[in-house]
Amino acid sequence: MEEIAQLESTLLARIDELETPRDILKAPEIKQLYAKIPTLDPAQRGVFGQKINGLKQALERVVAEKESQIEESASVPLDVTAPLHINSKLPKLLSAEQGTVHPLRQEIAKLIEIFGRMGFVAEESRELDDQYHMFESLNFPAGHPARDEYDTFMTVQKDTNEEAFVAPAHTSTMQNRILKKYKENLDKDEPIAAVVPDRTFRNEDLDARHEHTFYQIEGVYVAKNVHAGMLIATLQKFLEEYYGKKLEVRVNPFYFPFTEPSFEFALSCPFCEGTNPSCKVCGGEGWIELLGCGMIHPRVLQMAGIDPSVYTGFAFGCGIDRLVMMKYAIEDVRHFESAKLDFLKQF
Ligand code: PHE
Repeated sequence: MEEIAQLESTLLARIDELETPRDILKAPEIKQLYAKIPTLDPAQRGVFGQKINGLKQALERVVAEKESQIEESASVPLDVTAPLHINSKLPKLLSAEQGTVHPLRQEIAKLIEIFGRMGFVAEESRELDDQYHMFESLNFPAGHPARDEYDTFMTVQKDTNEEAFVAPAHTSTMQNRILKKYKENLDKDEPIAAVVPDRTFRNEDLDARHEHTFYQIEGVYVAKNVHAGMLIATLQKFLEEYYGKKLEVRVNPFYFPFTEPSFEFALSCPFCEGTNPSCKVCGGEGWIELLGCGMIHPRVLQMAGIDPSVYTGFAFGCGIDRLVMMKYAIEDVRHFESAKLDFLKQF
C-alpha cells in the first residue's frame, strides 16, 4: 500500500516532463502493480486492486486538468515579446539563454563616461528627422551641392512625391536642438557641452568599411573665447582616454557648411602606433583620418538664437564603429549588424 502511495507522487511529478500528459497512464510501474495481484494473499487482492484504480483515477484527474490547460494556452495568441519564463509554451521550444549588451552599446557607454568626466552631458538623436535639422539649421541652403554628399535616405510625400522626412545621415542634425536646449547655460556663465552618440544612416554601397546603418558621436561646445586649440585638445584627450595610451593628432583643412574653419582630424594609429608597415588597422600609414570637426559657423549659432559676436564654439562628429574597429582590430564593419553570435559573444 505504501508502495502505491509513493508511486503516486513519483508519477505526478513525472507528468510535467511529458509532452503528452496522458502517457503517464501507460507507465510500466502501473502494469507491474497489476502483475502483483495474483501473487498476493486472496484476501488482500480486492483492496489492492481498488488502490490501484484509485491511483489511476487520481492520475486521470490531473491529466485532464493538464490537457485543458494546454488546450487553453494553444488558443491564446503567443506573445513573442513576453519574457520567456512568462510564456508557458516557450521554455519547451527555446532555452532561455541570457542575452548580452551589444558591443557598440558597451563601447558607447564608455564614450559617455569619458565625456561625462570632461563635463559633457549625453543626448539622444532620433531615427527620423526633418529637412530643417538635416540641412537648413546646418547652413546648407536649398539646392546647396553639399546636400548630395550625405547620400541621405528620404521619405517622399505620397501624393506630391516631394521630399519629406530623412533618416539622419549624421548626428549634426542635433546641433540646433542642443544649442537651443542648453543656451540658458550661457546666461549663467556656464558652457554648452553635450555629446550625442546615436544611430545614423546613409545610402551607401556596402563593403568592409561602409554600412548603411552606423553610429556617430557628435560633440558641441559653446562658451566665450572658445578656440580651435580647445577643440583639438578635447579630442586628443578623449581619444587617449578611450585607447588608454598617448596619441599624436593632426588636423588638415576641410569643408563643412556648418563649421568655419573646418578640419579633418587624424590620429596616430592606436593599434600599431606607426610601427608596423603591414598593420591591418592603418595599412602601414601610421595615421588614420578619423573625424570631421571645426568651429561652429556663426550662422548656426544665430539660428539657435545665440549671439556669435559674444560666443564661439566647436563641434565634431566621429564614427563610433570605426573607433571601436580600431580598438579591437575588427576587419569588417558589417559584423556589428550581422547578428553573428560568435562575433557578438567575444565582447
Ligand atoms: N557631420 C559631419 C559628418 O558626418 C562631421 C562634423 C560634425 C563636422 C561636426 C563638423 C562638425 O561628416
